[in-house]
Amino acid sequence: MGDKVFYVTTPIYYPSDKLHIGHALTTTMADTLARYKRMRGYDVFFLTGSDEHGQKIQRKAREVGLEPLEYVDRIVATFRELWRRLDISYNDFIRTTEERHKKVVQDLFRRIYEKGDIYKAEYEGWYCTPCETFWTERQLQDGKCPDCGRPVELLREESYFFRMSKYADRLLKYIEEHPEFIQPPSRRNEMINFIKGGLEDLCVSRTTFDWGIPVPIDPKHVIYVWFDALTNYISALGFGTENDELFHKYWPAAVHLVGKDIVRFHTVIWPTILMAAGIELPRQVFGHGWLLVDGGKMSKSKGNVVDPMVLIDRYGSDAIRYFLLREMPYGADGYYSEEALVNRLNSDLANDYGNLLSRTVSMIEKFCGGLIPAPAGEEPLDRELKELAARLPDEVDEALERFEFARALTAIWQLINRANKYIEETAPWALARDPEKRPRLQTVLYNLAEALRQATVMCSPFMPGLPARVWEQLGMQDAFHAQTWDSLKEWGGVPAGSRVKRGAPLFPRVEWKAEEEGEIAVRKEERIPGPGQEAPPDGATAEPEISLEEFSRLRLRVAQVVKAERVPQTDKLLKLEVDLGGETRTVVAGIARYYQPQDLIGKKVVLVANLKPAKLRGIWSQGMVLAAVEGENLSLITPERDIPPGAQVR
Ligand code: MSP
Repeated sequence: MGDKVFYVTTPIYYPSDKLHIGHALTTTMADTLARYKRMRGYDVFFLTGSDEHGQKIQRKAREVGLEPLEYVDRIVATFRELWRRLDISYNDFIRTTEERHKKVVQDLFRRIYEKGDIYKAEYEGWYCTPCETFWTERQLQDGKCPDCGRPVELLREESYFFRMSKYADRLLKYIEEHPEFIQPPSRRNEMINFIKGGLEDLCVSRTTFDWGIPVPIDPKHVIYVWFDALTNYISALGFGTENDELFHKYWPAAVHLVGKDIVRFHTVIWPTILMAAGIELPRQVFGHGWLLVDGGKMSKSKGNVVDPMVLIDRYGSDAIRYFLLREMPYGADGYYSEEALVNRLNSDLANDYGNLLSRTVSMIEKFCGGLIPAPAGEEPLDRELKELAARLPDEVDEALERFEFARALTAIWQLINRANKYIEETAPWALARDPEKRPRLQTVLYNLAEALRQATVMCSPFMPGLPARVWEQLGMQDAFHAQTWDSLKEWGGVPAGSRVKRGAPLFPRVEWKAEEEGEIAVRKEERIPGPGQEAPPDGATAEPEISLEEFSRLRLRVAQVVKAERVPQTDKLLKLEVDLGGETRTVVAGIARYYQPQDLIGKKVVLVANLKPAKLRGIWSQGMVLAAVEGENLSLITPERDIPPGAQVR
């Protein structure tokens, strides 16, 4: 194995439901590491996937009258769509229902059985189906699952057992000798205590349901879902098959990223299985904290399950990724609220970053004819800026090595904030008034462009959509060498003479008021697919369907804008007067960031004409205009041919 390989994994998610913002956290962390390591020249393999077997999923599917595979096919399609929208650059997506996975799981089971470390006995004990976990009587808390507090079921069945107890001492020794294995240290201590409390043999098969991988030597049994699931990390690499090149190249994993609730499975069950099978252990397991909403877990019953898709539609993928990575304290729980998200977006992204770019570009346009000037000389202030920039890549590197994402971003923001301060200190507008200060002006503007370049390069693993937009505004989209991590070694990567091009704000400010927004990004309606519906093709979104009858209740009409003005004290809302072919309506539309009022006069748009009127900022809005939205982009829908106002849209 060469030094420069990096294998990173996320947990494989249960397709019992669509994913929420907490799930997006782990995957965003993994993606950031993968992108960073690729920039550093590593050969990266980034794996994610879905954990599709088990009693919980079988029951879920049954509830809606579907075969388990049909059910999970639909949910897995939504996983892939979410990862696409969140710019997740995984190399492989493993599904535990795939043949390639099943074969490896059976092979691993057989190996351990043949070695004598799996044996058959009677199991009697408790099972938590939501957690898919076995518990002994003494582990229960008030008769409930000690992890999730939900009721447990009594099981009595003939099962296969894995001799986990046999490996307890070896595991403890390993963990003690490899302090880096379990991160952060607080979780390591928890695990040490857990193991010291004694390990029992683990039940690794079930007979009371059949949605799982059959035990190869005894097909009445299915393999325990965690034995099945954990094996994904090596089945995706073709372990033990004819095609095991990836396994030899990438195993052991550099890191398994997991949430704190499943650290135990990854640092007790998984390593002991690997020990029994004679396979090297992963180098690290990092257990991050949970993202809490309203101070607690998200749950359907509380109705506070935050849908990342809604947030991406509203704020764009980069902003969501930034929030998740910036807001989670290292190793501990973090808090989500839409207000906190908007605050981060407005302060760090729109103000600090966005303004630095827009001020720099407009000063270069105004004072230098739009061409980035060559620097001429160096003063102490410049040196300070450069010295700061020079030490940041190492700081980011160190933080990422320890999975301290927030610290890495804070480091990058030091440069952004320093550059903003540098504008105030150097006052380019004053320099521009004095022809003798021309060389100084050039230096200052160059340094600002260069600081932006360096910050943007460092941000690219965190916010992959950002760089292309910055490079375009700095006119350096073809300067590939100046977009690499290596280019950070030197100050001066921005090619002087590039033509800047002012563009849309990087991150438009968002005005957010809970009461005005009306809706929060909470998943209101769960799609539960009914029988007889064909599964959408893999990779397609499974959106909630409506009937033709429901659609026909919408009255969509062509409307012509006759008047448009801003709603005072908001930067989001326009008040429109529209003609519906004789009838005039007032409509308040949240499009002020995308359209100037005067540009709308005479435009024909599509109006939802039978929407219940709503009062917004004291104005009655009688309808809603339709627009297409993608990330930061918004476009009103207009009829393609000339057609009079009032015409129906069907
Ligand atoms: N299928 C298992 C994992 C098998 S890995 C071999 C599983 N799936 S899960 O879908 O329930 O959870 C997947 C991950 O999401 C876990 O790491 C869990 O910690 C994480 N999260 C679930 N809710 C979360 C938050 N609210 N916040 C952060 N992470 C959360 O467990």
